[in-house]
Amino acid sequence: MTEGKRVLLVGGGVGIAPMLLLAKSLYKKGNEITVLIGGRSVADIIEPDLYEPYGIVGITTDDGSAGIKGLVTQHPAFEKISDYSMVYSCGPDPMMKAVTGIAKSHDIACEVSLENLMACGIGACLCCVAETTTGNRTTCVDGPVFDVKDLIGW
Ligand code: FES
Repeated sequence: MTEGKRVLLVGGGVGIAPMLLLAKSLYKKGNEITVLIGGRSVADIIEPDLYEPYGIVGITTDDGSAGIKGLVTQHPAFEKISDYSMVYSCGPDPMMKAVTGIAKSHDIACEVSLENLMACGIGACLCCVAETTTGNRTTCVDGPVFDVKDLIGW
C-alpha cells in the first residue's frame, strides 16, 4: 500500500463506500488524501463527513444540488492531478474510465474496484469476467480491485 504520498480517492454514488476503509488505511500510513465524491444529486452523496478526519473532501453533483456542479472529473483536484502519486476509484464504469484516462495520461498509477455484475460470487459462473493482460479474470475472486495497467480496454 502507498505510504507517505499524495493520494486521490474518487468514488461515484455507492462506489464511495469502500473508500472509507481505504482512506483510513492510507491515512494511518502517512498519506495525504483527497477524497472526491460524485453523484447525480445530493441524494447520491453518502455521509461525506465520515471522510473528513482523513483528508480533504470534495463533492460534485450533476445537478449542482451539492458541491460543485458537474462531473467528478471536473473537480479542480483534477487540474492538479500531477500532484498525486496514486489514484483509486470505485463507481460506474464510465466514471472510472474517465478517471483512469486522466491518471494514465499523466502516468499516475491507478487502481479501480470493478462493479461487474456478479451472480455466484465464487468464480463458477464467469458472468463477472474482466479481460486482463494475463487473460480473463473473475471480478468476484480475482478482484474486485485491479490495477488499470492490467485491464484491457481501460
Ligand atoms: S460472480 Fe460468478 S464467477 Fe464471479
